[in-house]
Amino acid sequence: MAMNSIKIAPSILAADFGRLAEQVQLAQEAGADLIHIDIMDGQFVPNITMGPLVVAAVARVATIPLDVHLMIDAPERFLQNFADSGAASISVHVEACTHLHRVLGQIDALGCRPGVALNPHTPASALCEILDMAQIVNIMTVNPGFGGQRFIAGMTRKIRALRRMAAESGRDIEIEVDGGINADTIRTVEAAGATIAIAGTCVFQHQHGIAAGIEELRRAAALKDAYGDF
Ligand code: DX5
Ligand code: ZN
Repeated sequence: MAMNSIKIAPSILAADFGRLAEQVQLAQEAGADLIHIDIMDGQFVPNITMGPLVVAAVARVATIPLDVHLMIDAPERFLQNFADSGAASISVHVEACTHLHRVLGQIDALGCRPGVALNPHTPASALCEILDMAQIVNIMTVNPGFGGQRFIAGMTRKIRALRRMAAESGRDIEIEVDGGINADTIRTVEAAGATIAIAGTCVFQHQHGIAAGIEELRRAAALKDAYGDF
């Protein structure tokens, strides 16, 4: 595997919740870099998933950082709860925060890495004034709310734009891509500058199991490293 290749963050949204602890352990044994946890409130997105209790349950078995993605309105109400539950990073949506600058400061003050997520329709330029407060940018490559959707190809341009903005900032900013990542799309997003690939369905629902799903993504990313962008 090439040095500095893209990190893989399995999203437990696609896991078997009856065997969640075991599935998280399998993912980390297979070399996952982070565990991605999708929090949905039925308001910001048309789906309800989990809350701080589930993050705490995952934290009890995880040895790798928990990357919490809040798809909830007014996330400032629950930052403390997610920090207490063991989140290493907390990403909020630009579209869900009236006072985004303040919210990112609050996440930082809680000792978590602040992240911002962008819906597909939100331009990279929405982050101009707050990029210096973010350690993670999550570029949604599907409309948030559900796993198993198709990667929106037009998002590649946004990944490139944010990679440039991050480089210009001179700060170490992770560029995450979230939604529709598989062995084909991971090459495209890595070539465009993504540093973390979030993947639910193709890891937890891989026909040969979780380790095979992660291995397939790694192999595809390594091919990209060997042959460049194709
Ligand atoms: C979608 C979530 C994603 C999702 C990705 O709202 O933010 O993290 O779980 O799932 P797949 O990989 O199935 O597209
Ligand atoms: Zn997510």
